[in-house]
Amino acid sequence: MMRAAHVLLDGEPKILKDDLALGFSGIEHEAALRAALNALQAELAQKFPLALVESLLRYTRAGVTLRSRYAEDELSKAIDRGVSQYVILGAGLDSFAHRRRDLAGVLRVFEVDYPATQHWKQARLRELHIEPPPHLTFIPLDFEKQSVAEALHAGGYHAGEPAFFSWLGVTWFLTEETIFQTLQQIASTAPSSEIVFEYPVAEALLDEEERQVLAVIKALGAARGEPVRTLFEPAKLAARVRELGFAHVWDSGPEEVNARYFAGRTDGLRFPNIGHLLKAQV
Ligand SMILES: C[S@@+](CC[C@H](N)C(=O)[O-])C[C@H]1O[C@@H](n2cnc3c(N)ncnc32)[C@H](O)[C@@H]1O
Repeated sequence: MMRAAHVLLDGEPKILKDDLALGFSGIEHEAALRAALNALQAELAQKFPLALVESLLRYTRAGVTLRSRYAEDELSKAIDRGVSQYVILGAGLDSFAHRRRDLAGVLRVFEVDYPATQHWKQARLRELHIEPPPHLTFIPLDFEKQSVAEALHAGGYHAGEPAFFSWLGVTWFLTEETIFQTLQQIASTAPSSEIVFEYPVAEALLDEEERQVLAVIKALGAARGEPVRTLFEPAKLAARVRELGFAHVWDSGPEEVNARYFAGRTDGLRFPNIGHLLKAQV
């Protein structure tokens, strides 16, 4: 819904032009999206100050679109050096495989998520009369209970070849133990494999407004039974990721991300200080 809202509400250039987002979100048309966004804003404004709610919604549109854009930009570089497998961990309603049908001969895409989420998405695709593209495989899995490596193997992933992994908007909701176990498995994939993930930074590193925005996100997560579990200090996280066996680690904070992607915008859109992006290469 936030990716669709970005296309509808934010200025040009779009950070991510996801024209499938509206349909995938389960919302029928633009007017219904506007109504749903207004209802969400009104509901949140009953509990939190309106200015804070507006900041949260703007930050969410920027964060959600940018994390996909960053992953897709880095994936494109990986494809240029011959990587032919893309694993989207916690894919949710990611539309990459559908937007990029042109890559069917070049890239195999694996969407990993809870079975229930995948069933919902597949039913929605049928309602929209969208055929899943031939290069897409769904891999059902619960990160807290199953090994990504085993599930991928069962789904036809080629363990001997490098892959690009993205893990966007997911680590927030996992335990630290599961996050590092999963990263450990990815560190054991073929040399030159890469992962890009996005994570929230520890509260101690945030200013007052950012802490308030995080408090709203936490309250929303708790209310829908999906509590925010894990936040990181970037330097410590990068050191742990290296210890797991990744040869190269690049951490991008809001300053770097805003300079690379949001410079010169006049619509106030910018990447939230709450988030960081980490790329690591085996
Ligand atoms: C906030 S959504 C992000 C979706 C997508 N990656 C994006 O950037 O929009 C989080 C996704 O992680 C999935 N997820 C959360 N915990 C999970 C778990 N333990 N096992 C499998 N999937 C999980 C959810 O089902 C959901 O699709």
